[in-house]
Amino acid sequence: MEKKNIDWGSLGFGYVKTDKRYVMNFKNGAWDEGGLIEDDMVTISECAGVLQYAQTAFEGLKAYTTEDGRTVTFRPDLNAERLDQSCRRLEMPVLPEGTFLKAVDEVVKANWAYVPPYGSGATLYIRPYMFGSSPVIGVKPAEEYQFRMFATPVGPYFKGGAKPITIKVSDFDRAAPKGTGHIKGGLNYAMSLHAIVTAHNEGFDENMYLDAATRTKVEETGGANFLFVTKDGKVVTPQSDTILPSITRRSLVYVAQHYLGLTVEERPVYFEEVKDFAECGLCGTAAVISPVGKVVDHGKEICFPSGMEKMGPVTQKLYETLTGIQMGRIEAPEGWIREIQ
Ligand code: PLP
Ligand code: COI
Repeated sequence: MEKKNIDWGSLGFGYVKTDKRYVMNFKNGAWDEGGLIEDDMVTISECAGVLQYAQTAFEGLKAYTTEDGRTVTFRPDLNAERLDQSCRRLEMPVLPEGTFLKAVDEVVKANWAYVPPYGSGATLYIRPYMFGSSPVIGVKPAEEYQFRMFATPVGPYFKGGAKPITIKVSDFDRAAPKGTGHIKGGLNYAMSLHAIVTAHNEGFDENMYLDAATRTKVEETGGANFLFVTKDGKVVTPQSDTILPSITRRSLVYVAQHYLGLTVEERPVYFEEVKDFAECGLCGTAAVISPVGKVVDHGKEICFPSGMEKMGPVTQKLYETLTGIQMGRIEAPEGWIREIQ
């Protein structure tokens, strides 16, 4: 099989339809066999749970071509685990054991021609999701569900790639205490749309959300966790029950400690402290590590010493080590890389 004739280097973070997707249906209390199909269209009731009450959750992970030409995914078992947690919180059924990983393998294999080549700067983004497909009009969970997984080749999430971005402290809240901030429900993203459009209209790349209860602590952005570096080279990352437990962040904490010998603090981070950090970055599957050069709080600018031209040195090392592991240049910890055979 040949790779598709795509200008990989100029891909942004957008949707490109690929050949096959995985579909599995839940009906009468049981999942069907599931399998790959070609049809990219979804047909559901006009009154489906997802359409009326946003009963849906999703995941995001990537497939990479390694330096030696293998096709791999990065810690997909953790995405499977997190989807289970999201489904439970949204009263949706969980997938049968092993289905998620099987579907990832099948989707990547079936769309191998779209997995960007090594060194192209692009990757194959995999989007698993589940939604209530049967009619509900009273507020309650649907009785039928569909699980789907498609893949699309993507470039950098932020237009400038590795160029530092500017973010604003949002006046909107992302997640309530005891709410749904810790799961990957579509509802969290729907309610962030007005905030991100507002930020973009004001010339910012992203929002920094503070904790809704006290508005004194740093939470996350609309699609990534924060990493900070102190002036003495420690890595600091916010710990909170109302942020998404990022797989990239958990991996970077390990990389910082075990590959780079850095001290890591996972703890509540007060907004007051932000002005004292040397570096700031956003981490996530889509964001990888995107450096932040400036945070603006109602006109007051916090400019990190790492500047607006390039990543800070510690962020750069974290980036190189993580992507080195993902692309097979650096040996991965046991169980982090799943090769697609
Ligand atoms: N936070 C939010 C709100 C996200 O949407 C994402 C993306 O999945 C992340 C953090 C990063 O998580 P991960 O590293 O698992 O992709
Ligand atoms: C991801 O990183 O996979 C996400 O789901 C974040 C989203 C903003 C694209």
